[in-house]
Amino acid sequence: MKEQLLKFENVTYRYEDESEPALQSVSFGVEKGEFVVILGHNGSGKSTVAKLSNSIYLPTEGKVFVNGMDTSDENNEINCRKTVGVVFQNPDNQIVASIVEEDVAFGPENLCVEQKELRKRVDEALQSVGMYDYRMHETHKLSGGQKQRVAIAGILAMRPQCIVLDEPTAMLDPKGRREVMRAVRKLNEEEGITVLFITHFMEEAVFADRVMVMDDGKVILDGTPSKVFAQTQLLKKVGLDVPEVARLAAALRENGTDLGDVLTEDAFVQAFSRKMEG
Ligand SMILES: Nc1ncnc2c1ncn2[C@@H]1O[C@H](COP(=O)(O)OP(=O)(O)O)[C@@H](O)[C@H]1O
Ligand SMILES: [Mg+2]
Repeated sequence: MKEQLLKFENVTYRYEDESEPALQSVSFGVEKGEFVVILGHNGSGKSTVAKLSNSIYLPTEGKVFVNGMDTSDENNEINCRKTVGVVFQNPDNQIVASIVEEDVAFGPENLCVEQKELRKRVDEALQSVGMYDYRMHETHKLSGGQKQRVAIAGILAMRPQCIVLDEPTAMLDPKGRREVMRAVRKLNEEEGITVLFITHFMEEAVFADRVMVMDDGKVILDGTPSKVFAQTQLLKKVGLDVPEVARLAAALRENGTDLGDVLTEDAFVQAFSRKMEG
């Protein structure tokens, strides 16, 4: 079995004064190098998972392990936070400095990284997200997508093995969403960074190795995108829709034209063209 970078074992989480737990006995693992997407409507427990994944929260019951380290053991706290970095929804709440490169340097500076190494990390992190040319720019003048990529660079500069992104595209326009998505996919594919990507945009899930669907504090589906999106009825029941391309392919399949596993527009066009020719 491959190494699990992140592991939830029967995790229940209850917010203070709440009668119902926000998470109920949630179990899953994320392997090193995987790109996993979590889908779910508002209130299903996604952000609670994000905050448990780097010991911002500790489980009420059950265990969370980061690289085998129990997050509830306080001796592991710093190492867990170095291993898993979390990016949140609103870029404005994550930017702390007025100049891009100063903002990216903030995290590693707090980890007491020495100057030469710091310079290297900041430059590399900015290059990774395509923001190096903006290193001297003022952060408040950037677009939403650019700010969010700077926020991601700030996390990368702390050299995590895994990044958890909690709806990082929710507040962005379509262009910003594409920029962020492209940057995160590149980090996973080219730099081998493990990604747990939380979103409610179905079309962002089609690139994942695995998709988990949450509802009412539980994981109700966990599998490849094509397996998960084949569950049209169940997804509809929990307030989610399948991506348009998958819906179209399912309708064609019912009509006798099976295009196979097609989840992206490109794959659809190619498979459809082949059918037409054949
Ligand atoms: N700080 C909090 N105090 C009490 N209840 C909370 C708090 N944050 C979230 N919840 C509740 O926990 C459940 C899961 O919330 P959350 O993890 O934020 O879901 P999601 O990110 O999927 O929208 C919801 O019922 C929500 O109302
Ligand atoms: Mg949330």
